[in-house]
Amino acid sequence: MHNSQNNVIVGKSSPQKALLKSDCLGCHASGGSEAIVILGGSSFPQVYHQAVEDLAGGNFAYITGLKTGGDGGSGDQYGHNVVTIPGISVDSITNSFAPGAFSNGHPGRVFENAGITCAGAKGCHGIRGNGLSPMDAIRGAHHADAEGVANGSDVASSYRFLLGVKGYEVSDWKNSSPTHHNEYYGLKVPYDDLNMNCKCHSGSVGSYSMIPVPPDGTIGEFCATCHPNFHNAKGTADWPNVASPWLRHPSDYALPNRGEYANYNNGTLIYSTTAPVARTTWPITEISSSVTPGEDAVMCLSCHYAHAGPYPDMLKWDYSKCTSNSASPSECGCIICHSAKGQ
Ligand code: HEC
Ligand code: HEC
Ligand code: HEC
Ligand code: HEC
Repeated sequence: MHNSQNNVIVGKSSPQKALLKSDCLGCHASGGSEAIVILGGSSFPQVYHQAVEDLAGGNFAYITGLKTGGDGGSGDQYGHNVVTIPGISVDSITNSFAPGAFSNGHPGRVFENAGITCAGAKGCHGIRGNGLSPMDAIRGAHHADAEGVANGSDVASSYRFLLGVKGYEVSDWKNSSPTHHNEYYGLKVPYDDLNMNCKCHSGSVGSYSMIPVPPDGTIGEFCATCHPNFHNAKGTADWPNVASPWLRHPSDYALPNRGEYANYNNGTLIYSTTAPVARTTWPITEISSSVTPGEDAVMCLSCHYAHAGPYPDMLKWDYSKCTSNSASPSECGCIICHSAKGQ
Protein backbone atom coordinates (compact mmCIF):
# COMPACT_ATOMS: atom_id res chain seq x y z
CA MET A 1 0.00 0.00 0.00
CA HIS A 2 2.69 2.51 1.00
CA ASN A 3 5.84 0.39 0.52
CA SER A 4 6.35 0.82 4.25
CA GLN A 5 5.46 -1.00 7.47
CA ASN A 6 6.73 0.22 10.86
CA ASN A 7 8.71 2.66 8.80
CA VAL A 8 10.58 -0.23 7.20
CA ILE A 9 10.55 -0.76 3.42
CA VAL A 10 8.44 -3.69 2.20
CA GLY A 11 9.64 -5.66 -0.84
CA LYS A 12 12.13 -4.05 -3.21
CA SER A 13 14.09 -1.00 -2.07
CA SER A 14 11.95 1.40 -4.10
CA PRO A 15 8.17 1.38 -4.69
CA GLN A 16 7.15 -0.65 -7.77
CA LYS A 17 4.56 0.22 -10.41
CA ALA A 18 0.98 -1.00 -9.83
CA LEU A 19 1.72 -1.11 -6.08
CA LEU A 20 3.58 -4.36 -6.51
CA LYS A 21 6.22 -5.59 -4.07
CA SER A 22 8.52 -6.61 -6.90
CA ASP A 23 8.80 -6.71 -10.68
CA CYS A 24 8.63 -9.56 -13.23
CA LEU A 25 11.49 -11.36 -11.47
CA GLY A 26 9.76 -11.36 -8.07
CA CYS A 27 6.95 -13.50 -9.49
CA HIS A 28 8.75 -15.41 -12.27
CA ALA A 29 12.39 -15.92 -11.23
CA SER A 30 12.33 -17.46 -7.77
CA GLY A 31 15.54 -19.47 -8.25
CA GLY A 32 13.86 -22.15 -6.13
CA SER A 33 13.18 -25.83 -6.59
CA GLU A 34 9.88 -25.55 -8.48
CA ALA A 35 9.18 -24.76 -12.13
CA ILE A 36 5.68 -23.59 -11.19
CA VAL A 37 5.17 -21.88 -7.83
CA ILE A 38 1.66 -22.16 -6.42
CA LEU A 39 0.73 -19.33 -4.09
CA GLY A 40 -2.66 -18.06 -2.96
CA GLY A 41 -4.44 -20.23 -5.51
CA SER A 42 -2.41 -18.89 -8.46
CA SER A 43 0.22 -20.70 -10.50
CA PHE A 44 3.36 -18.67 -11.22
CA PRO A 45 5.41 -20.07 -14.13
CA GLN A 46 9.17 -19.78 -13.40
CA VAL A 47 11.88 -18.92 -15.91
CA TYR A 48 14.77 -19.13 -13.42
CA HIS A 49 14.65 -22.18 -11.15
CA GLN A 50 16.39 -25.43 -10.18
CA ALA A 51 13.70 -28.02 -10.96
CA VAL A 52 14.75 -30.92 -13.19
CA GLU A 53 12.05 -30.23 -15.78
CA ASP A 54 12.12 -26.84 -17.49
CA LEU A 55 9.02 -25.19 -18.88
CA ALA A 56 8.65 -24.80 -22.66
CA GLY A 57 10.52 -21.47 -22.82
CA GLY A 58 13.63 -22.87 -21.11
CA ASN A 59 15.50 -21.69 -18.01
CA PHE A 60 17.88 -18.77 -17.48
CA ALA A 61 19.59 -20.83 -14.75
CA TYR A 62 21.90 -22.33 -17.41
CA ILE A 63 23.48 -18.89 -17.83
CA THR A 64 24.39 -18.32 -14.18
CA GLY A 65 25.21 -21.96 -13.43
CA LEU A 66 22.36 -22.34 -10.93
CA LYS A 67 21.67 -25.35 -13.19
CA THR A 68 24.26 -27.05 -15.39
CA GLY A 69 23.46 -28.19 -18.91
CA GLY A 70 23.32 -31.65 -20.46
CA ASP A 71 27.01 -31.23 -21.34
CA GLY A 72 27.87 -30.29 -17.76
CA GLY A 73 28.44 -26.64 -18.64
CA SER A 74 26.78 -23.26 -18.19
CA GLY A 75 27.46 -19.67 -19.21
CA ASP A 76 26.57 -16.78 -21.47
CA GLN A 77 26.37 -18.91 -24.62
CA TYR A 78 23.48 -20.95 -23.12
CA GLY A 79 20.88 -18.24 -23.51
CA HIS A 80 19.59 -14.71 -23.79
CA ASN A 81 21.39 -12.57 -21.24
CA VAL A 82 18.48 -10.86 -19.52
CA VAL A 83 20.47 -8.33 -17.55
CA THR A 84 17.81 -7.67 -14.91
CA ILE A 85 18.27 -11.19 -13.50
CA PRO A 86 20.80 -11.04 -10.62
CA GLY A 87 24.03 -12.73 -11.70
CA ILE A 88 23.46 -12.07 -15.42
CA SER A 89 25.11 -9.16 -17.20
CA VAL A 90 25.86 -8.16 -20.78
CA ASP A 91 26.88 -11.26 -22.80
CA SER A 92 30.65 -11.59 -22.42
CA ILE A 93 31.06 -13.24 -25.84
CA THR A 94 28.88 -11.06 -28.09
CA ASN A 95 28.69 -7.92 -25.91
CA SER A 96 24.97 -8.57 -26.41
CA PHE A 97 25.05 -7.65 -30.10
CA ALA A 98 22.24 -9.80 -31.57
CA PRO A 99 23.71 -12.10 -34.28
CA GLY A 100 22.03 -12.19 -37.70
CA ALA A 101 21.60 -8.44 -38.17
CA PHE A 102 21.38 -6.57 -41.50
CA SER A 103 24.60 -5.31 -43.07
CA ASN A 104 24.21 -1.94 -41.30
CA GLY A 105 24.14 -3.73 -37.93
CA HIS A 106 20.47 -3.07 -37.24
CA PRO A 107 18.78 -4.40 -35.14
CA GLY A 108 21.72 -6.28 -33.61
CA ARG A 109 23.43 -3.25 -32.15
CA VAL A 110 20.32 -1.96 -30.39
CA PHE A 111 21.30 -4.37 -27.60
CA GLU A 112 25.08 -4.03 -27.82
CA ASN A 113 26.64 -3.32 -24.42
CA ALA A 114 23.11 -3.00 -23.02
CA GLY A 115 21.66 -6.52 -23.05
CA ILE A 116 17.99 -7.40 -23.08
CA THR A 117 15.19 -7.20 -20.51
CA CYS A 118 12.03 -9.29 -19.97
CA ALA A 119 9.66 -6.78 -21.54
CA GLY A 120 9.43 -3.27 -22.97
CA ALA A 121 11.74 -1.20 -25.18
CA LYS A 122 14.70 -3.60 -25.12
CA GLY A 123 12.75 -6.72 -24.22
CA CYS A 124 10.63 -9.46 -25.78
CA HIS A 125 7.28 -9.47 -23.95
CA GLY A 126 4.63 -6.78 -24.27
CA ILE A 127 4.73 -3.59 -26.30
CA ARG A 128 8.31 -2.97 -27.44
CA GLY A 129 7.78 0.80 -27.71
CA ASN A 130 10.58 3.31 -27.33
CA GLY A 131 11.10 4.20 -23.68
CA LEU A 132 8.47 1.78 -22.36
CA SER A 133 9.33 0.14 -19.01
CA PRO A 134 8.69 -3.61 -18.60
CA MET A 135 5.65 -3.10 -16.36
CA ASP A 136 4.08 -0.47 -18.66
CA ALA A 137 4.72 -2.74 -21.64
CA ILE A 138 2.55 -5.58 -20.32
CA ARG A 139 0.01 -3.41 -18.51
CA GLY A 140 -3.36 -5.15 -18.17
CA ALA A 141 -2.28 -8.33 -19.95
CA HIS A 142 -2.18 -10.63 -16.90
CA HIS A 143 -5.83 -9.95 -16.10
CA ALA A 144 -7.05 -10.55 -19.64
CA ASP A 145 -4.80 -13.46 -20.60
CA ALA A 146 -6.16 -15.55 -23.48
CA GLU A 147 -6.33 -19.33 -22.95
CA GLY A 148 -5.79 -21.73 -25.83
CA VAL A 149 -5.99 -19.75 -29.07
CA ALA A 150 -3.80 -16.62 -28.99
CA ASN A 151 -4.54 -14.48 -32.05
CA GLY A 152 -1.94 -11.75 -31.57
CA SER A 153 -4.37 -8.82 -31.61
CA ASP A 154 -3.09 -7.20 -28.40
CA VAL A 155 -0.62 -8.13 -25.65
CA ALA A 156 -3.10 -10.23 -23.64
CA SER A 157 -4.27 -12.09 -26.76
CA SER A 158 -0.78 -12.70 -28.06
CA TYR A 159 1.08 -15.95 -27.64
CA ARG A 160 2.73 -15.66 -24.17
CA PHE A 161 2.36 -11.84 -24.25
CA LEU A 162 4.68 -11.60 -27.29
CA LEU A 163 2.88 -8.81 -29.13
CA GLY A 164 1.56 -9.94 -32.52
CA VAL A 165 2.58 -13.60 -32.18
CA LYS A 166 -0.11 -16.19 -32.93
CA GLY A 167 -0.26 -19.68 -31.45
CA TYR A 168 -2.10 -22.11 -29.21
CA GLU A 169 -1.14 -22.10 -25.54
CA VAL A 170 -1.04 -25.24 -23.43
CA SER A 171 -2.37 -24.28 -20.01
CA ASP A 172 0.59 -25.44 -17.87
CA TRP A 173 3.41 -24.00 -20.05
CA LYS A 174 4.86 -27.49 -20.64
CA ASN A 175 5.83 -29.17 -23.91
CA SER A 176 5.72 -32.61 -22.34
CA SER A 177 4.44 -35.13 -24.91
CA PRO A 178 3.12 -35.45 -28.48
CA THR A 179 -0.40 -34.84 -27.14
CA HIS A 180 0.51 -32.11 -24.65
CA HIS A 181 2.44 -29.13 -26.03
CA ASN A 182 2.09 -25.57 -27.28
CA GLU A 183 1.27 -25.13 -30.94
CA TYR A 184 3.37 -22.62 -32.89
CA TYR A 185 2.33 -20.74 -36.01
CA GLY A 186 4.65 -20.66 -39.03
CA LEU A 187 4.81 -20.04 -42.78
CA LYS A 188 5.39 -22.41 -45.68
CA VAL A 189 7.90 -19.97 -47.18
CA PRO A 190 9.64 -17.19 -45.22
CA TYR A 191 9.13 -13.48 -45.88
CA ASP A 192 11.49 -12.27 -48.60
CA ASP A 193 13.16 -9.44 -46.72
CA LEU A 194 12.08 -7.95 -43.40
CA ASN A 195 14.33 -4.96 -44.11
CA MET A 196 12.16 -3.80 -47.00
CA ASN A 197 9.87 -0.95 -45.93
CA CYS A 198 11.01 -1.56 -42.35
CA LYS A 199 8.49 -4.41 -42.28
CA CYS A 200 9.10 -5.26 -38.61
CA HIS A 201 8.08 -1.83 -37.34
CA SER A 202 4.47 -2.10 -38.37
CA GLY A 203 2.81 -2.17 -34.95
CA SER A 204 1.01 0.67 -33.24
CA VAL A 205 -0.68 0.72 -29.85
CA GLY A 206 -2.14 3.98 -28.51
CA SER A 207 0.44 6.72 -28.88
CA TYR A 208 3.21 4.22 -29.63
CA SER A 209 3.90 3.62 -33.28
CA MET A 210 6.58 1.78 -35.30
CA ILE A 211 6.58 -0.97 -32.69
CA PRO A 212 8.44 -4.13 -33.74
CA VAL A 213 5.95 -6.94 -34.43
CA PRO A 214 6.19 -10.05 -36.62
CA PRO A 215 4.40 -9.09 -39.89
CA ASP A 216 2.59 -12.44 -40.27
CA GLY A 217 2.45 -13.32 -36.57
CA THR A 218 4.84 -16.28 -36.65
CA ILE A 219 7.19 -17.05 -33.76
CA GLY A 220 10.05 -17.24 -36.28
CA GLU A 221 9.40 -13.70 -37.52
CA PHE A 222 9.28 -12.63 -33.89
CA CYS A 223 12.82 -13.98 -33.37
CA ALA A 224 13.72 -12.34 -36.67
CA THR A 225 12.79 -8.88 -35.38
CA CYS A 226 16.21 -9.15 -33.68
CA HIS A 227 17.92 -11.83 -35.85
CA PRO A 228 16.54 -10.99 -39.36
CA ASN A 229 19.15 -12.65 -41.59
CA PHE A 230 18.62 -16.04 -39.96
CA HIS A 231 14.98 -16.01 -41.11
CA ASN A 232 14.50 -13.95 -44.30
CA ALA A 233 14.41 -15.67 -47.65
CA LYS A 234 17.13 -13.22 -48.73
CA GLY A 235 19.30 -14.22 -45.78
CA THR A 236 18.78 -17.96 -46.01
CA ALA A 237 18.32 -18.75 -49.71
CA ASP A 238 20.03 -18.00 -53.00
CA TRP A 239 17.38 -15.35 -53.75
CA PRO A 240 15.11 -15.47 -55.71
CA ASN A 241 15.39 -19.27 -55.56
CA VAL A 242 13.80 -19.85 -52.13
CA ALA A 243 14.56 -23.59 -52.07
CA SER A 244 17.36 -26.12 -51.76
CA PRO A 245 20.33 -25.68 -51.93
CA TRP A 246 20.14 -23.28 -48.98
CA LEU A 247 22.74 -20.78 -47.76
CA ARG A 248 21.59 -20.86 -44.12
CA HIS A 249 19.17 -23.30 -42.52
CA PRO A 250 15.61 -22.31 -43.49
CA SER A 251 12.98 -21.40 -40.87
CA ASP A 252 9.26 -20.90 -41.54
CA TYR A 253 9.63 -23.38 -44.40
CA ALA A 254 7.32 -26.38 -44.87
CA LEU A 255 8.83 -29.85 -44.66
CA PRO A 256 8.80 -31.12 -48.25
CA ASN A 257 6.40 -34.03 -48.71
CA ARG A 258 9.12 -36.18 -50.15
CA GLY A 259 12.26 -38.06 -49.25
CA GLU A 260 13.53 -37.99 -45.68
CA TYR A 261 11.12 -35.21 -44.62
CA ALA A 262 8.09 -37.33 -45.54
CA ASN A 263 9.41 -39.80 -42.92
CA TYR A 264 9.52 -37.28 -40.04
CA ASN A 265 10.29 -38.91 -36.68
CA ASN A 266 11.39 -42.27 -37.95
CA GLY A 267 8.46 -42.49 -40.35
CA THR A 268 5.85 -42.29 -37.58
CA LEU A 269 4.77 -38.70 -38.37
CA ILE A 270 4.24 -38.29 -34.61
CA TYR A 271 4.91 -34.76 -33.27
CA SER A 272 8.27 -34.64 -31.52
CA THR A 273 8.81 -32.23 -28.62
CA THR A 274 12.55 -32.61 -29.30
CA ALA A 275 12.28 -31.16 -32.82
CA PRO A 276 8.78 -29.69 -33.06
CA VAL A 277 7.18 -28.12 -36.15
CA ALA A 278 4.98 -25.06 -36.66
CA ARG A 279 1.49 -25.22 -38.19
CA THR A 280 0.93 -23.13 -41.30
CA THR A 281 -2.87 -22.77 -41.26
CA TRP A 282 -4.61 -20.27 -39.01
CA PRO A 283 -6.47 -20.54 -36.68
CA ILE A 284 -4.92 -23.37 -34.73
CA THR A 285 -7.77 -24.52 -32.52
CA GLU A 286 -6.38 -27.63 -30.85
CA ILE A 287 -3.25 -29.54 -29.99
CA SER A 288 -2.43 -32.21 -32.55
CA SER A 289 -0.07 -35.14 -32.10
CA SER A 290 0.61 -35.68 -35.77
CA VAL A 291 2.82 -33.97 -38.33
CA THR A 292 1.90 -33.45 -41.97
CA PRO A 293 4.83 -33.02 -44.38
CA GLY A 294 3.97 -30.42 -47.01
CA GLU A 295 1.96 -28.47 -44.42
CA ASP A 296 3.97 -28.24 -41.18
CA ALA A 297 7.15 -26.20 -41.08
CA VAL A 298 10.60 -26.03 -39.54
CA MET A 299 10.95 -22.95 -37.28
CA CYS A 300 13.48 -21.42 -34.85
CA LEU A 301 12.00 -23.39 -31.96
CA SER A 302 12.52 -26.68 -33.83
CA CYS A 303 16.13 -26.39 -32.70
CA HIS A 304 16.31 -23.62 -30.06
CA TYR A 305 14.82 -22.75 -26.69
CA ALA A 306 13.46 -19.21 -26.44
CA HIS A 307 14.96 -18.15 -23.09
CA ALA A 308 18.00 -20.33 -22.41
CA GLY A 309 18.66 -24.07 -22.50
CA PRO A 310 20.96 -26.91 -21.49
CA TYR A 311 23.31 -26.63 -24.50
CA PRO A 312 25.41 -23.82 -26.05
CA ASP A 313 23.60 -21.64 -28.60
CA MET A 314 20.38 -22.41 -26.72
CA LEU A 315 20.07 -25.62 -28.71
CA LYS A 316 17.72 -28.38 -27.66
CA TRP A 317 20.35 -31.10 -27.99
CA ASP A 318 24.12 -31.47 -27.93
CA TYR A 319 25.17 -30.33 -31.39
CA SER A 320 28.69 -31.65 -30.78
CA LYS A 321 27.21 -35.19 -30.66
CA CYS A 322 25.48 -34.81 -34.05
CA THR A 323 27.28 -37.23 -36.31
CA SER A 324 25.81 -39.17 -39.20
CA ASN A 325 26.65 -42.61 -37.82
CA SER A 326 26.12 -42.50 -34.08
CA ALA A 327 23.46 -39.94 -33.25
CA SER A 328 20.14 -40.96 -31.73
CA PRO A 329 17.26 -38.46 -31.81
CA SER A 330 17.71 -37.63 -28.14
CA GLU A 331 21.33 -36.72 -28.82
CA CYS A 332 20.72 -35.01 -32.13
CA GLY A 333 17.23 -33.73 -32.98
CA CYS A 334 18.30 -32.99 -36.56
CA ILE A 335 17.56 -36.59 -37.54
CA ILE A 336 13.91 -36.29 -36.52
CA CYS A 337 13.43 -34.33 -39.76
CA HIS A 338 16.49 -35.52 -41.66
CA SER A 339 15.30 -39.06 -41.09
CA ALA A 340 17.60 -40.60 -43.66
CA LYS A 341 20.65 -39.36 -41.74
CA GLY A 342 21.97 -40.95 -38.56
CA GLN A 343 22.22 -44.58 -37.41
C1 HEC B 1 2.53 -10.23 -9.04
C2 HEC B 1 3.11 -11.33 -9.73
C3 HEC B 1 3.49 -11.15 -11.19
C4 HEC B 1 4.26 -10.15 -11.74
C5 HEC B 1 4.85 -8.92 -11.07
C6 HEC B 1 4.41 -10.50 -13.13
N1 HEC B 1 3.75 -11.67 -13.41
FE1 HEC B 1 3.67 -12.62 -15.20
N2 HEC B 1 2.39 -14.02 -14.44
C7 HEC B 1 1.99 -14.09 -13.13
C8 HEC B 1 1.07 -15.21 -12.98
C9 HEC B 1 0.38 -15.63 -11.68
C10 HEC B 1 0.94 -15.79 -14.25
C11 HEC B 1 0.07 -16.99 -14.63
C12 HEC B 1 -1.34 -16.58 -14.87
C13 HEC B 1 -1.53 -16.04 -16.22
O1 HEC B 1 -1.19 -16.71 -17.19
O2 HEC B 1 -2.03 -14.92 -16.36
C14 HEC B 1 1.78 -15.02 -15.14
C15 HEC B 1 1.94 -15.29 -16.49
C16 HEC B 1 2.86 -14.66 -17.29
C17 HEC B 1 3.16 -15.06 -18.64
C18 HEC B 1 2.52 -16.23 -19.40
C19 HEC B 1 1.25 -15.76 -20.03
C20 HEC B 1 0.53 -16.90 -20.69
O3 HEC B 1 0.12 -16.73 -21.83
O4 HEC B 1 0.39 -17.97 -20.10
C21 HEC B 1 4.09 -14.20 -19.12
C22 HEC B 1 4.72 -14.21 -20.48
C23 HEC B 1 4.39 -13.26 -18.06
N3 HEC B 1 3.63 -13.57 -16.97
C24 HEC B 1 5.32 -12.25 -18.16
C25 HEC B 1 5.54 -11.29 -17.18
C26 HEC B 1 6.43 -10.15 -17.34
C27 HEC B 1 7.26 -9.87 -18.55
C28 HEC B 1 6.37 -9.44 -16.17
C29 HEC B 1 7.07 -8.13 -15.83
C30 HEC B 1 6.91 -7.03 -16.77
C31 HEC B 1 5.46 -10.15 -15.31
N4 HEC B 1 4.97 -11.26 -15.95
C32 HEC B 1 5.15 -9.74 -14.05
C33 HEC B 1 2.40 -13.25 -12.10
C34 HEC B 1 3.16 -12.10 -12.25
C1 HEC C 1 14.59 -8.35 -28.43
C2 HEC C 1 15.60 -8.92 -29.30
C3 HEC C 1 15.68 -10.41 -29.43
C4 HEC C 1 14.67 -11.30 -29.75
C5 HEC C 1 13.20 -10.99 -30.02
C6 HEC C 1 15.29 -12.58 -29.85
N1 HEC C 1 16.64 -12.49 -29.59
FE1 HEC C 1 18.01 -13.98 -29.66
N2 HEC C 1 19.47 -12.70 -29.06
C7 HEC C 1 19.30 -11.35 -28.83
C8 HEC C 1 20.56 -10.78 -28.38
C9 HEC C 1 20.78 -9.32 -28.01
C10 HEC C 1 21.50 -11.84 -28.37
C11 HEC C 1 23.01 -11.77 -28.03
C12 HEC C 1 23.25 -11.65 -26.56
C13 HEC C 1 22.80 -12.84 -25.75
O1 HEC C 1 23.05 -14.00 -26.12
O2 HEC C 1 22.20 -12.58 -24.73
C14 HEC C 1 20.78 -13.03 -28.78
C15 HEC C 1 21.34 -14.29 -28.89
C16 HEC C 1 20.68 -15.42 -29.38
C17 HEC C 1 21.29 -16.71 -29.55
C18 HEC C 1 22.72 -17.05 -29.23
C19 HEC C 1 22.82 -17.31 -27.74
C20 HEC C 1 24.18 -17.12 -27.18
O3 HEC C 1 24.26 -16.68 -26.02
O4 HEC C 1 25.16 -17.40 -27.86
C21 HEC C 1 20.32 -17.55 -30.04
C22 HEC C 1 20.48 -19.00 -30.37
C23 HEC C 1 19.11 -16.77 -30.15
N3 HEC C 1 19.36 -15.48 -29.76
C24 HEC C 1 17.91 -17.28 -30.61
C25 HEC C 1 16.70 -16.60 -30.56
C26 HEC C 1 15.41 -17.21 -30.80
C27 HEC C 1 15.18 -18.64 -31.15
C28 HEC C 1 14.48 -16.20 -30.68
C29 HEC C 1 12.98 -16.31 -30.78
C30 HEC C 1 12.34 -17.26 -29.88
C31 HEC C 1 15.20 -14.98 -30.34
N4 HEC C 1 16.53 -15.27 -30.28
C32 HEC C 1 14.60 -13.75 -30.16
C33 HEC C 1 18.15 -10.63 -29.00
C34 HEC C 1 16.91 -11.17 -29.32
C1 HEC D 1 11.86 -29.51 -37.90
C2 HEC D 1 12.57 -30.15 -39.00
C3 HEC D 1 14.05 -29.93 -39.17
C4 HEC D 1 15.04 -30.04 -38.22
C5 HEC D 1 14.87 -30.36 -36.75
C6 HEC D 1 16.27 -29.81 -38.89
N1 HEC D 1 16.04 -29.57 -40.21
FE1 HEC D 1 17.48 -29.23 -41.60
N2 HEC D 1 16.02 -28.85 -43.00
C7 HEC D 1 14.66 -28.96 -42.78
C8 HEC D 1 13.96 -28.56 -43.99
C9 HEC D 1 12.45 -28.53 -44.17
C10 HEC D 1 14.94 -28.19 -44.92
C11 HEC D 1 14.71 -27.71 -46.35
C12 HEC D 1 14.56 -28.91 -47.24
C13 HEC D 1 14.44 -28.60 -48.71
O1 HEC D 1 14.39 -27.42 -49.09
O2 HEC D 1 14.40 -29.56 -49.50
C14 HEC D 1 16.23 -28.39 -44.25
C15 HEC D 1 17.45 -28.17 -44.86
C16 HEC D 1 18.68 -28.50 -44.30
C17 HEC D 1 19.95 -28.45 -44.99
C18 HEC D 1 20.13 -27.93 -46.42
C19 HEC D 1 19.86 -28.96 -47.41
C20 HEC D 1 19.77 -28.35 -48.81
O3 HEC D 1 19.22 -29.04 -49.67
O4 HEC D 1 20.18 -27.21 -49.04
C21 HEC D 1 20.90 -28.91 -44.13
C22 HEC D 1 22.36 -29.09 -44.42
C23 HEC D 1 20.23 -29.21 -42.88
N3 HEC D 1 18.89 -28.96 -43.04
C24 HEC D 1 20.86 -29.64 -41.73
C25 HEC D 1 20.25 -29.73 -40.49
C26 HEC D 1 20.96 -29.93 -39.24
C27 HEC D 1 22.46 -30.10 -39.09
C28 HEC D 1 20.02 -29.95 -38.28
C29 HEC D 1 20.23 -30.05 -36.78
C30 HEC D 1 21.04 -28.99 -36.19
C31 HEC D 1 18.73 -29.78 -38.93
N4 HEC D 1 18.92 -29.62 -40.26
C32 HEC D 1 17.52 -29.84 -38.28
C33 HEC D 1 14.05 -29.40 -41.63
C34 HEC D 1 14.70 -29.62 -40.43
C1 HEC E 1 17.63 -26.58 -37.97
C2 HEC E 1 18.02 -26.11 -36.68
C3 HEC E 1 17.99 -24.62 -36.48
C4 HEC E 1 16.97 -23.75 -36.77
C5 HEC E 1 15.64 -24.04 -37.42
C6 HEC E 1 17.42 -22.45 -36.31
N1 HEC E 1 18.67 -22.55 -35.77
FE1 HEC E 1 19.75 -21.05 -34.93
N2 HEC E 1 21.32 -22.29 -34.68
C7 HEC E 1 21.32 -23.65 -34.95
C8 HEC E 1 22.63 -24.20 -34.68
C9 HEC E 1 23.04 -25.65 -34.85
C10 HEC E 1 23.43 -23.13 -34.22
C11 HEC E 1 24.89 -23.20 -33.79
C12 HEC E 1 25.80 -23.32 -34.97
C13 HEC E 1 25.85 -22.09 -35.81
O1 HEC E 1 25.91 -20.98 -35.26
O2 HEC E 1 25.82 -22.19 -37.05
C14 HEC E 1 22.57 -21.95 -34.21
C15 HEC E 1 22.97 -20.69 -33.83
C16 HEC E 1 22.12 -19.58 -33.72
C17 HEC E 1 22.51 -18.27 -33.24
C18 HEC E 1 23.89 -17.86 -32.74
C19 HEC E 1 24.71 -17.36 -33.90
C20 HEC E 1 26.03 -16.76 -33.47
O3 HEC E 1 26.57 -15.93 -34.24
O4 HEC E 1 26.54 -17.11 -32.40
C21 HEC E 1 21.40 -17.47 -33.30
C22 HEC E 1 21.30 -16.02 -32.90
C23 HEC E 1 20.33 -18.28 -33.85
N3 HEC E 1 20.81 -19.55 -34.10
C24 HEC E 1 19.05 -17.81 -34.06
C25 HEC E 1 18.09 -18.51 -34.77
C26 HEC E 1 16.82 -17.94 -35.18
C27 HEC E 1 16.36 -16.54 -34.87
C28 HEC E 1 16.16 -18.91 -35.86
C29 HEC E 1 14.83 -18.81 -36.57
C30 HEC E 1 14.72 -17.71 -37.52
C31 HEC E 1 17.01 -20.09 -35.86
N4 HEC E 1 18.16 -19.80 -35.20
C32 HEC E 1 16.66 -21.31 -36.43
C33 HEC E 1 20.25 -24.38 -35.42
C34 HEC E 1 19.05 -23.85 -35.86
